[in-house]
Amino acid sequence: MTRKRVAVLISGRGSNMLALIEAAREPAYPAEITLVISNEPTAEGLKRAAAAGIPTVVVDHRPFGKDREAFERALQSELEAHRIELVCLAGFMRVLTPWFVRQWDGRLLNIHPALLPAFKGLDTHARALAAGVKEHGATVHFVVPEMDSGPIIAQGAVAVLDDDTEATLAARVIAVEHRIYPLALSLVAAGRVHIADGRCHIDGAATQEQALVVPDDQA
Ligand code: GRF
Repeated sequence: MTRKRVAVLISGRGSNMLALIEAAREPAYPAEITLVISNEPTAEGLKRAAAAGIPTVVVDHRPFGKDREAFERALQSELEAHRIELVCLAGFMRVLTPWFVRQWDGRLLNIHPALLPAFKGLDTHARALAAGVKEHGATVHFVVPEMDSGPIIAQGAVAVLDDDTEATLAARVIAVEHRIYPLALSLVAAGRVHIADGRCHIDGAATQEQALVVPDDQA
C-alpha cells in the first residue's frame, strides 16, 4: 500500500491536526502527514507539529495584502515541493479562491464545527444554542468554491443539553471532530469515497454506517 502524502493547513491550536498525526502513526493508515503549513507564524499548532516530528512551513498571508491568489500560489508551491496528494484544512482561517480550490478538486478536505448544511460560517456553537437545536456536531466535507458547502464525507453528532454553554458544547463537539477527521481522511486516502451528484458514496456497507459517528453516551 502506498500511503497518500497529506498536508494539514492550520491557523491556530491544531488539535484536529494532532488527531490526524496520531491516526497516521498507525502503519495500516492509508495516509501520512508529511507537512503542516500555517499562515500564522505564532500558531500553537506549529510547535505541536514540530514536537511530533512533522515538517512545518509558515506561509504568512500578510505580505500578500489583498492578493489572495498570490498567497495561494505560495501555498501551492510548498505543496508541490513536498509532493502533496491530499490537503486537510484544520482550523485554517483563510477564505480560498476558486483558483486554489480547482487545483485540489476532490483532494481538499475541511472540518466544520456544525452539522452542515446547518450553521455555515462562524460562531456555530453560539448559534446552535440560540436556535435551540437538540442536535449539533461536526462535518468533514470536500471543499468547493462556495464556503462550507461541498460533498459531506462524515459527520459526528452530539446532543445539545439544556444547561450547555458555548464552552461545554464546544468541548463535546471537538471530541467528535477528533474522531471523524481521521475517519474521513482514511476513507478518502483509501480511495473509498466517490462523488456523484454532489454526494459522497462510500464503498462497503459497514463503512457507510461508520461515516456517521454518534458517541455511545450521546445515542
Ligand atoms: C475546529 O473547531 C474546526 O472544526 C474549525 O476550527 C477549529 C479548529 O480547531 N474549522 P483546532 O485548531 O483543530 O484545535
